[in-house]
Amino acid sequence: MTFIPFARLSLLVAAALTVVSSVHATESMRIPANKNETMRVEAQQENPSVHQVAKRTMLGRQDAGLVNFAYYVNWAIYAGLGNFMPTDIVPDHLTHILYSFADIDPATGHLTLSDEWADEQITFDGDDTTEAGTNLYGCLKQMYKMKLAKRSLKVLLSVGGYTWSQEGHFGFVTNDAARAQFVTDAVQLIEDYGFDGIDLDFEFPANADEGTGYGKLFTELRAAFDTLQTTKGDAEPYQLTVAVSSGAANYANLDVPTMDAALSYWNLMAYDYSGAWLDFVANQANVIPDGVNNVSTKQALDWYAGAGATTNKMVLGIPIYGRGFEETDGLGATYNGVGAGTTDPGVWAYKNLPFAGAEVFENTTSISSYSYDSAKREWISYDTPAISAAKGQYAADNGLAGTMFWELSTDKVGEDSLVTAAAGKLGTLDATENHINFPNSKWDNIKNNLGQSTTRRSHMRRTRAVSL
Ligand SMILES: *[C@@H]1O[C@H](CO)[C@@H](O)[C@H](O)[C@H]1NC(C)=O
Ligand SMILES: *[C@@H]1O[C@H](CO)[C@@H](O)[C@H](O)[C@H]1NC(C)=O
Ligand SMILES: *[C@@H]1O[C@H](CO)[C@@H](O)[C@H](O)[C@H]1NC(C)=O
Repeated sequence: MTFIPFARLSLLVAAALTVVSSVHATESMRIPANKNETMRVEAQQENPSVHQVAKRTMLGRQDAGLVNFAYYVNWAIYAGLGNFMPTDIVPDHLTHILYSFADIDPATGHLTLSDEWADEQITFDGDDTTEAGTNLYGCLKQMYKMKLAKRSLKVLLSVGGYTWSQEGHFGFVTNDAARAQFVTDAVQLIEDYGFDGIDLDFEFPANADEGTGYGKLFTELRAAFDTLQTTKGDAEPYQLTVAVSSGAANYANLDVPTMDAALSYWNLMAYDYSGAWLDFVANQANVIPDGVNNVSTKQALDWYAGAGATTNKMVLGIPIYGRGFEETDGLGATYNGVGAGTTDPGVWAYKNLPFAGAEVFENTTSISSYSYDSAKREWISYDTPAISAAKGQYAADNGLAGTMFWELSTDKVGEDSLVTAAAGKLGTLDATENHINFPNSKWDNIKNNLGQSTTRRSHMRRTRAVSL
């Protein structure tokens, strides 16, 4: 790669810091305009030469009970993300799936699923739509099936996301009656679809009123979830998680202590530190400050800890995508364009990276990596398996709760999987049991656990039969 003379680099950095002091909104966590638009795929570098530019000694730790979260988006089944079905998910190294996104009516606070066909209707192998009763199909039946097969896998319904946040759908948080409606609907959706809780993704409270209202929503949901647990006699609480930004402007209005008291986990969106909004090339997800851009995961973690977030509730987010820059000499330099991207400009699916002709650079000091094609002068910030593993190690070493991924459809499989790489450093994963007791579901097959005899009632029957 071409290194930029230091003087020029510092000049660029100085100029950059005055222009940009915060992360842009996490544009990646958004819904594409056309879910069926064909994926753009480029020739892939099969055996890239990998250059490690620094070394860092890390202590191993075998903590029990760390978590590994990943988002599954309900548009992954369409062509835009390569028709990635729930049945393609390998849950072995996951403790939580965040099923996204549900939507909200900003006037009433009414919470609803967003794609009836994807969520409830599309059928998979083994589905028999002629069976008796009113039954759930679609991706959500598959989620429930996974929960029955892996009892430590928790599935939460994720609400909002970038697109609907930006369209004002969280406007309801300042309205007491609308928040009450939201809480009622959240409990009903948990019961109907067999979720283990709710994940909120408001990007981002824009003023103190929204921050306060958002905080109240967490308190109210926690109270409702605790009541639900008590009423049903469940051993485990229903979980409440949130996606939060690493950018100062985006987290400024959060009521951190109130949220922390109600939350199970904070999912830090530790990505999107660079993109088309910058006028220089920078890493999009470096953990340690790198002197190029005034944003890093460590700075964000320090801010949350200082503001009252419990460190062992904090989950380190990892992107399963890259952010590209064209016609550039690399880190800190200027560029011209961000490239077409797999589905969105500048955003490339990890499963197709690195591109043929590129070399890969891993910086284990800043914990970041990128590919660079010196002929095309194309630079792409993305996490390699080694960097994902280093982030898992960082989470474990620093007493965090674990790691989180956006999003599953763009991962590779086997040892190239970023989800697997991080999980390998988290030690024994959280084995808390999920919920499979939903007698109030509107769906017969959720009520009866897809016909499997795993409910408490059948267990009691079995016990009685034995004692007779
Ligand atoms: C860098 O970001 C931190 C917040 O993480 C902020 O306090 C500081 O003022 C920023 N520095 C510059 C030079 O913008
Ligand atoms: C996507 O394409 C499929 C098959 O061509 C079609 O049935 C479906 O309606 C399309 N969905 C959207 C959201 O465009
Ligand atoms: C690697 O990261 C460290 C720490 O952020 C930084 O000081 C160093 O310049 C980086 N090395 C390269 C070659 O980018």
